[in-house]
Amino acid sequence: MFKAILIEKDDVVGYRARSTTLDEAQLPEGDVTLRVDCSTLNYKDALAITGKGPVVRKFPMVPGIDLAGTVEASASPDFKAGDQVLLNGWGVGEQHWGGLAQKARLDGRWLIPLPRGFTARQAMAVGTAGYTAMLSVLALERHGVTPEQGEILVTGANGGVGSFAVALLARLGYQVVASTGRPEQADYLKKLGAGEIIDRATLSEPGRPLARERWAGVIDSLGSHTLANACAATRYGGTVATCGLAQGMDFPATVAPFILRGVTLAGIDSVMCPRAERIAAWERLARDLDLALLDEITREIGLDEAIPMAGELLAGKVRGRLVVDVNR
Ligand SMILES: NC(=O)c1ccc[n+]([C@@H]2O[C@H](COP(=O)([O-])OP(=O)(O)OC[C@H]3O[C@@H](n4cnc5c(N)ncnc54)[C@H](OP(=O)(O)O)[C@@H]3O)[C@@H](O)[C@H]2O)c1
Repeated sequence: MFKAILIEKDDVVGYRARSTTLDEAQLPEGDVTLRVDCSTLNYKDALAITGKGPVVRKFPMVPGIDLAGTVEASASPDFKAGDQVLLNGWGVGEQHWGGLAQKARLDGRWLIPLPRGFTARQAMAVGTAGYTAMLSVLALERHGVTPEQGEILVTGANGGVGSFAVALLARLGYQVVASTGRPEQADYLKKLGAGEIIDRATLSEPGRPLARERWAGVIDSLGSHTLANACAATRYGGTVATCGLAQGMDFPATVAPFILRGVTLAGIDSVMCPRAERIAAWERLARDLDLALLDEITREIGLDEAIPMAGELLAGKVRGRLVVDVNR
């Protein structure tokens, strides 16, 4: 038997998430069974737990898009009992039981070895948020954005993706301008490496198709008007990495920045990202992330706390990241 968060939906109870005990025989199909050491609570997990977004595709579902664990049994040629592994995405926690549980059974092709240099807890402190921030940094690099070119805007800076984007860019020598609705967290953002903090209200309302050129690059996790305004103020030849929709899924923009200033809009997807690119992103995280900042960015909670914290996270009240100790 093992503890898990279970999401159910039916005509009697409606949509609900509860903490419960499950039998190992109930685990879904997969060639690797593992003991989960740690998981996390991401924006998507919070949508799944609260039912505020159509994340869960099958019921009942164990949420949790991230996990770090130890292999107990494996029919996969790539893993054996005792191996420490990491999982981010692949629809886990959406269509296949995920990491907010003490046990998981998964397809071995979704797993990567726990990246060298990280403990399970540290890897979960980074989680999908940090790995997505790194995919976004890699996209800026791939499109030729260098620290000498000028300021980089990071939106949703106090969130999980935003916090890691600020920390990674600053460590790589970029000048980071952090946009936030929580200016009282300025000291935190400065500690991560932000050079300037701006009020997110300056970006979140409808704006002009083109604005004064300011950003050499952007990492945006909000979408909607914020993304449109970020594109409108991106300098000639700059790149905007778009990875989230915390403000909205809409994109009320014009083509002007793209056809008049040669701006590139780079889409970032962590879920189905090919294995080789994931491994490369985690290798760069091991190299470029200052692990000393993880305690600053992260708070640890127990499995049962994941349900109440999901609402807090969607309300924008969580700073940085939540690591879930599933055995607490
Ligand atoms: N593409 C991918 O593969 C991928 C991977 C991971 C995450 N994501 C997406 O990226 C987004 C951020 O994820 P996360 O884990 O960083 O979430 P998070 O920790 O909840 O952070 C989101 C941040 O966005 C800001 N925000 C929230 N609601 C807002 C609103 N209505 N208007 C303007 N700003 C708002 C807040 O930052 P401030 O307090 O600083 O203003 C908040 O901390 C989500 O949409 C998530 O689904 C996508």
